[in-house]
Amino acid sequence: MVMQSNTKSIKPLLAAAGTLDEVLTLGLQQLEGPAVFSTSFSKEDQLILEAISRLGLPVHVFTLDTGRLFPETYRLWTESLSRFGLPIKPYYPDTAELEGMVSAAGPDLFYSSIENRQRCCTVRKVHPLKRALQGKKLWLTGIRAAHSPNRSTLEMLEYDEAHELHKFHPLLHWSDRQVDEELQRLSIPCNALYDRGFLSIGCAPCTRAVSAGEDVRAGRWWWEEEGKKECGLHQRTNRPIV
Ligand code: ADX
Ligand code: SF4
Repeated sequence: MVMQSNTKSIKPLLAAAGTLDEVLTLGLQQLEGPAVFSTSFSKEDQLILEAISRLGLPVHVFTLDTGRLFPETYRLWTESLSRFGLPIKPYYPDTAELEGMVSAAGPDLFYSSIENRQRCCTVRKVHPLKRALQGKKLWLTGIRAAHSPNRSTLEMLEYDEAHELHKFHPLLHWSDRQVDEELQRLSIPCNALYDRGFLSIGCAPCTRAVSAGEDVRAGRWWWEEEGKKECGLHQRTNRPIV
């Protein structure tokens, strides 16, 4: 059981920790209980995966395979298995739920309305995530503050009330440049789509390349208004650790 007193005293320690290795090691030492890391094979996730593998950290890794990912993402997943030698558990949508949704609204329902897009994200991502987090105490993500104004107000360690666990973003304060330099230094494989103008990569039908100067997340659900572009994985039901 994670004690609130531990999490309170960890905040200044995390702030003082420098490298990703230090932040991860410290966080896992202080927060007991089963820990998981969700990867979408983003640049950030590849850095965390490499560190978990190299340091032998007690964290189980999972990915949410929506069934609509890019071929390049599946290739990187395969490459990452041999490069890092860690099991990566896939979670899939519930078959009956998926069949019901596609029968009723078609395979590309996400373009027809926000409700249908959110329904697809719920079936393909949010419900599988709930299963992946069942019984866990700590959830590591590759979220960075620079991704969006919403994420810029997050804390590195939060209590996620919806999933009843602590949520940990070890790269929260890293810049784009830091991420790229570290990936290069460690020769970590990345999604080939980054070289083709993609800045943030999700499902293939809902992600496109962006032009120079566009926002990081401009290529995600580009047909929707800015404020509505959340898939439900990272709902703000979080309470900062004070
Ligand atoms: S999203 O909410 O818009 O889709 P984003 O792509 O920025 O999220 O990724 C942020 C973090 O969410 C990733 O670092 C990862 O921890 C988690 N994540 C996003 N998509 C997936 C996925 N398909 N499988 C597992 N984790 C994911
Ligand atoms: Fe469905 Fe698009 Fe959400 Fe993927 S991002 S789960 S394809 S709506």
